[in-house]
Formats: sequence, structure tokens, C-alpha cells
Amino acid sequence: MKTIGILTSGGDAPGMNAAIRSVVRTSVFNGLKVMGIGHGYNGLLSGEVREMDISSVADIIHRGGTMLRTARCEEFETEDGRKKALNIIEVFGIDGLIILGGDGTFRGAKDLMDLGVPVICIPCTIDNDMGYTDYSIGFMTAIETVVDAISKIRDTSTSHGRANIVEVMGRDCGDIALYSGLAGGAESIIVRETDIGVDEVCKKIIQGRNRGKLHHIIVLAEGIRDPYEVSDEIKDKTGAEVRVTTLGHIQRGGTPTSFDRIMASNMGHKAVELLLNNRSGQALGMKCNAIIDMNLEEALKVEKTFDIDMYNMARTLSI
Ligand code: F6P
Repeated sequence: MKTIGILTSGGDAPGMNAAIRSVVRTSVFNGLKVMGIGHGYNGLLSGEVREMDISSVADIIHRGGTMLRTARCEEFETEDGRKKALNIIEVFGIDGLIILGGDGTFRGAKDLMDLGVPVICIPCTIDNDMGYTDYSIGFMTAIETVVDAISKIRDTSTSHGRANIVEVMGRDCGDIALYSGLAGGAESIIVRETDIGVDEVCKKIIQGRNRGKLHHIIVLAEGIRDPYEVSDEIKDKTGAEVRVTTLGHIQRGGTPTSFDRIMASNMGHKAVELLLNNRSGQALGMKCNAIIDMNLEEALKVEKTFDIDMYNMARTLSI
């Protein structure tokens, strides 16, 4: 192992830069050459490859986004695309690849692994939707962003005596809604993993109003229902005044939390160590506060489970 390549693919996540910094500096410390590949798998197809040194990653640990840039690449999903990628890997003499992203990115990494490329994957997605790891890099930062927004919305919600719907990201996973709803003290959390829907929300709004409660925050996970439709239904059924805020891509940016920076630094360091010890084909993760590595194929098979106990506790605390 003399030359390592690194790329970030799929949706960006705060903390990716801290992981890139860790990979580059650990590699250089160990006498390895590092090639940064721009725009994810796209860069592997187009040859967007440049050598990195310790200065290339200066002043990035605190920055959101990814200095390598990212993309979602359809061509890489074809056999021809993967062959092109293999050519670039050979041309630049890359002996192993460290790949940062979510489950789609990991599947691409597995395809490369099946073609004989040594790979290590680092989980980076705000969605926290990968079953084999407790946390992915970027998730906790997204939670801070959402909780900050909920606190601000709560101020105006109380002043006006309204119900406020806050739509959050997460793709098919309710973790952002659950964790931010719990931490933000939301009255209702609507996720696809439970059958708690608008009727329960309406009942709580009416009960709360009878007790003199001024605000009602509803965290709605994206993709379940149109938030404006939910708003209309709540207005019709309760007479409450309702406002909708879709947080959108705000959740993907911003300075990473210390938790994400530390996890990213640990994983970047460990990824290089694994390649140096000829232990490729692994996905890094976190279990019970420890950094773990798991066979990539196995990791991709682990289904994400929703923490229903945490959800029920959030419901209990928001009666
Ligand atoms: O996977 C991260 C994520 O932000 C999801 O939560 C969201 O559904 C999706 O990406 C948005 O993708 P894009 O940035 O391509 O619109």
C-alpha cells in the first residue's frame, strides 16, 4: 500500500472534512501518498484526481460540506462506468480507496471491491439510516441545527398560540425527527415507522389548549405527507392556527459538532490503519461509543431499526 485515494459521494454531511483531514494526515504520517478524487464517483470517471498534502487539509476541521466536493453519479451504476473508474484507479496508481458517504455510496464501493479494489467505507449521512452503526457522521450536527430551529419556532408559536409543523429530512428514516423532536421538546413527532398520525396530534392540540398550553410543535419526517395538507387537516379538525416550516438543506450544512469531528477523526485514522494492515473491504461504524469495523457486505445487509422505546419516551414526556 503506497498510494491511497479518497472520495466523498452522495449527499454531503457536516464532518466529512474532518474525516478527510484525518485520512490525509494519517497517511502522510505513515509515508503514504494521498490522491483526492473530486465530485465522488464522477471524479473517478473523469480523472478529477489530485495529490494532497498536509496543507491541503488545513483549516477545514470546522467547516461543513466537503472540500473534495460530491455528486450522485448514475454512470457509475453501469458496468461501463465502473470499468472507466477502474482505469483511472490504475492510471493514478491508487492501491486502496477510502470512500465517504451513505448506503448508495457504500454499494458503489462494494462494486469496486468486487472488481478487486481494496476499499474502506466511512458512514457519512445526516439521515442516520445505516443499520450497522449507531451513528453516521453528520447526524448529530443536523440534530443541533433542527433543535436550534425548533427553539426559535417555539418562541413565535407561543407568542401567537399556534401549532407549528416543522418538516425535517431523513429520506425514509425517522431518526432526525425522533432525536430532534425529543431534544426540542416537540409535542408531536410524525414518522413513517409508527402509526401515530394526524388524529393523535389533533387530540393533543385540543387537550393542550384545554390546559392553557400556548404552543404545539409537530416534527414531521419528510416524504410521509405534504406538510400543507397536514396543516389543513389540523386546522379543519381543531380550529387551530397552523404554520409550516420546511427546514430543507439548512440541515445539511454548518459547522460540525465536536461529536461529529471526533468521530470523523477517529474513523479517518482507523481507515488508513486498516488499509496499511491489509484489512480492506470493511465499513467503519460506532457501536456503544466504540469505533468498530465490519465486513462491508455484511454491513450493507444490516437493516436499520427504529428506536421505538425512545419514541414512546418522547411521547410520554410531551403529554
Ligand atoms: O440523504 C441526505 C438527504 O439530505 C436526505 O435527507 C434528503 O431526502 C436528500 O438527501 C435530499 O437530496 P438532494 O440534496 O439531492 O436534494
